Amino acid sequence: MTAVGIDAMEIWTGKLKLDLAETFAPAQGDDPGKYTKGLGLHASSFPDVHEDIVTMAANAAHRLMDRKGLEPEDIGRIDVATESSFDNSKPVSTYVAGCLEKVYDGDFHHANKGERKFACISGTQSLDDAYNWIRADRHRGRAAIVIATDTALYARDDPGEATQGAGAVAMLVAEDPDLLELSPEQGFGSADETDFLKPNQQFPSVDGKRSVNVYLARMREALDDFASVSGDIHPEDYPLIPFHTPFPGMVRKAAALGYRHIIRDTEIEDELAEEIGYQPVPEAFDSDDEFYEAIREYTDSLTETERYQAWYGETIDPTLEISRHVGNWYTGSVHIARAAGLKHARENGRDLDGTELLVASYGSGAQAEVHAEKVVEGWEDEIAQLNIDEQIRTRYEMSFEEYEQIHDVHNHDTEADAEAFTDPSEEFVFDGWGRMGERTYKYVE
Ligand code: COA
Repeated sequence: MTAVGIDAMEIWTGKLKLDLAETFAPAQGDDPGKYTKGLGLHASSFPDVHEDIVTMAANAAHRLMDRKGLEPEDIGRIDVATESSFDNSKPVSTYVAGCLEKVYDGDFHHANKGERKFACISGTQSLDDAYNWIRADRHRGRAAIVIATDTALYARDDPGEATQGAGAVAMLVAEDPDLLELSPEQGFGSADETDFLKPNQQFPSVDGKRSVNVYLARMREALDDFASVSGDIHPEDYPLIPFHTPFPGMVRKAAALGYRHIIRDTEIEDELAEEIGYQPVPEAFDSDDEFYEAIREYTDSLTETERYQAWYGETIDPTLEISRHVGNWYTGSVHIARAAGLKHARENGRDLDGTELLVASYGSGAQAEVHAEKVVEGWEDEIAQLNIDEQIRTRYEMSFEEYEQIHDVHNHDTEADAEAFTDPSEEFVFDGWGRMGERTYKYVE
């Protein structure tokens, strides 16, 4: 069976930075520890005045194509995943193709384009679509560009405001990939849930606490479903486990739950039992509440053990390194988690050749998906190309007043005129409005 997977990736962050501890927390009257320790976030990225989901997506895709020496004729498919779309009919991928056609001689008329929606999991679903298209041998030797792009804005003073972010991840999906081979096996946990909605509105209606619990419940189902097709999962078999990361504190909870769940009835549980006892079982309790309380206590003790902390430090913590500085990118979040983990592994000389990552995606509404990705020899060369550290470092840092202004600029219901904070160079920018009210774009040399 031909290997299919991610051949290369590029990341584009919004060019503005909001420091959460120094700027946001004092303005909200909050202790900075709520952000840096509780949520695990230091800063959020925002798009400048001339940036949006199209420019970030097109800029990431342009870098990807340029670096891989690709022309439009090499690409048979452009799929965009987003939950920040501004049009119910025309997909963002058509705008992205329009942008790219301004800088390449050829065009994308032959390419199938679409837009995927299922909250934050649609980036992973678009990867699936590209994978299936190649596997079905309908690709005529061409590759797919999959882009996850979002401006994750919440209404002012919504609890989610602390977790905002904006950026795009572009991935090239191809045969014999240079970075990661996707496993055919997948596990799903999917249910009709009401935790996060945008019923024809820009800012989400969120039941934040509930969304945390739904994430955990669906993730547990997806892990079980994956194990049913791949065989038992052993947490220490995977060098990295990138999770969907709305904020690192969420992953701290998901990792503890996942680890506890998959060590049940294994030798790891036996070995840990001397220190913290065995996991509680429902039959031993008179009520569900007592059982849940016991499970919570066991999980707390588990996370204090040396074995768990070593596993977390090696397998999970590195995947959070980008997210801490950019916030939630919705559809892109699990993909920057994967990139952060691989980047950290390269910088620390870890040998990942031939190992498998376990990738855990999630979207509110709600669905979790788990699959494995085999790391291809030579992966370090691909990862070395990422310039996300430099992008993060060179963002313009906003004052709180400037943040309020930028929030208004990107609020579809307010008309805010503001000067850009950064000077665009060699990138696509938002250029105004066309005759049918469409957004227009140009390339700035
Ligand atoms: N020092 C250290 N930790 C602190 C703290 C301080 N000074 N103040 C608060 N914290 C901790 C809290 O204990 C909590 O951690 P815990 O959940 O492990 O107990 C964390 O910081 C967040 O504080 P909390 O009061 O729960 O925040 P909140 O209620 O304002 O908002 C969300 C949290 C997740 C509900 C909110 O960010 C949200 O709605 N986000 C959008 C939805 C989302 O991302 N859902 C995730 C699934 S997709």
